[in-house]
Amino acid sequence: MAVPAQFIDELMARCDIADVVADYVPLTRKGGSLWGCCPFHSERTPSFHVVPERQMYKCFGCGKGGGVINFIMEIENLSYPDAVRFLAKRAGLQVPEERGDGGFRKKRERLLSLNKEAARYFHSVLHSPAGQAGVEYLFGKRKLSKATVTRFGLGMAPEGWDKLITAMAAKGYEKGELLEAGLVVRSKEGRVYDRFRNRVMFPIIDLRGDVIGFGGRVLDDSTPKYLNSPDTPVFNKGRNLFALNIAKRTRLGRIILTEGYMDTLSLHQAGFDCAVASLGTALTPDHAQLLSRYTKEVVIAYDGDGAGVSAAQRAIGLLEKTGMKVRVLRMKGAKDPDEFIGKYGPEAFAKLLDQSENHIEYRIDQVKGKYDLTDDAQRVEFLKEAVPILAQLPSPAEREIYGARCAEMAGVTAEVVAQEVKRERSRLSWKAKKQQERRDLTPAVQLQPKERALRYDNLRSARAEEGVLRLVILDPELFGSTAALDPEHFSAPLLGKVFRLLRERWTNGLTVSLAALAGELEPTEMSHLSGVLTQPESLQNGARAMRDYIEIIETEAEKRRLAGESDELLAMQKKLLEKKAYGG
Ligand code: CTP
Ligand code: MN
Repeated sequence: MAVPAQFIDELMARCDIADVVADYVPLTRKGGSLWGCCPFHSERTPSFHVVPERQMYKCFGCGKGGGVINFIMEIENLSYPDAVRFLAKRAGLQVPEERGDGGFRKKRERLLSLNKEAARYFHSVLHSPAGQAGVEYLFGKRKLSKATVTRFGLGMAPEGWDKLITAMAAKGYEKGELLEAGLVVRSKEGRVYDRFRNRVMFPIIDLRGDVIGFGGRVLDDSTPKYLNSPDTPVFNKGRNLFALNIAKRTRLGRIILTEGYMDTLSLHQAGFDCAVASLGTALTPDHAQLLSRYTKEVVIAYDGDGAGVSAAQRAIGLLEKTGMKVRVLRMKGAKDPDEFIGKYGPEAFAKLLDQSENHIEYRIDQVKGKYDLTDDAQRVEFLKEAVPILAQLPSPAEREIYGARCAEMAGVTAEVVAQEVKRERSRLSWKAKKQQERRDLTPAVQLQPKERALRYDNLRSARAEEGVLRLVILDPELFGSTAALDPEHFSAPLLGKVFRLLRERWTNGLTVSLAALAGELEPTEMSHLSGVLTQPESLQNGARAMRDYIEIIETEAEKRRLAGESDELLAMQKKLLEKKAYGG
């Protein structure tokens, strides 16, 4: 996005990182900086660090870090340009008209307002004679309340082929736009007609409150039962969850993940305002990431059938990877949460929720399902697979309880299992100790970036390069003494690039801040740099330190140049020798 650098500068000046972060994370002041629990990974003791002086944040747990724009990109799940717009709105600034992708942005806005108009239209149909069947279905058959229908903006797409086309034409929208929004379909003959006909409509709303797509359900048993908007420039099934716009504000401390629109609606109506649904697709890694931004615990409440179970298995893996606690809810006597609540009521569901198995129980059950426990040999195999799961449990109480349960399943004594678990744990801790020792023996690793692609080749030089960056951020006047320092001479390309960008900013009279480079650096690069720049650096004798750093960088660069030359010389020599040997 071609937003002028001056604008980014002004934006930074108006969006203090401490203020912005405080909207999301409670912070406590300790000395010159602020600490809180990291919103990007699950933790109980604060390792999330905000340094107002440098306008940076850094989490010492998960490593994420950057400036205020990076923070908004990460926590609001926004692209760089969207994060800039988001902050501009917050600061009451107008983003200057962009070149480049301005057209795309206009189109996006147009599609979003078309979707909003369509949602309004579908909702209004419910209040008209054409919506009678929808009213009967939603209120009568599905027992939804007026409040639920209003809160979720549910509606009805009437019978006919061009009702929406006509209604939207009256608002100034053309067929091409409806096509792009996925609201109409073009037949082979080239005729354009409404995609959603005679269906109750569920608008899908993103985290910013924009209607990005729709799901529509038939009123009877015809097929397809559900029809969803296709992926469009504003809608991506793999990156959005139904009702997360509401569930993100829940105070229930967890999110319930369901498979269906109706499951989610029933749960909200029953007081579980933390329910979301994936949109007729399997859970994706993006979904898991998204959820982990809003909760520390997910309860999977998928259908009880075979498909639901294997979908849950897959989801557990994805969700766990993000560090969330994962539980699995199991229903008896109903196929899905909607049916369960209809049959047994909200209290019964609350009980299920409390009993919902943590994923350990669930995993043990899955392992158990693989073996015939009446067979001796298979009982041994079962234990072999169960013991590593038990050994990973952090608390002794849990190990004892689940260990006893496994013992019972396998028909052995609890002591036997406890012993096996103990052996497995000492094996694991020995392995961990060895790994730690290896790490301690090579302290250089500590200084290395987490990302493999950013690894330093020359640590001596890289440390000096980091020092240069810290110095000029603390005191940009020190750029004055770097005229002879060539960014190409940096051993770490990323550090060289940042030095060049910052020096350019300084030359152009802009603020020398890393946070302002959010548009030019990858989030992983930013995370690494925020760690570098929140390390202490003394300004006492800054000029002297700068000279020393420059000398190291230049000496190391010279060594590399000579090494390169000598490689060339060696190669030349070798060639000459070969020639001699053959040519005589
Ligand atoms: N789904 C879909 N297309 C279909 C069937 C289902 O996209 N043809 C998606 C929908 O998002 C639906 C979810 O899968 O909400 C779950 O489907 P299913 O279990 O069949 O429906 P229920 O949620 O039980 O719907 P209902 O109670 O309305 O029958
Ligand atoms: Mn159902």
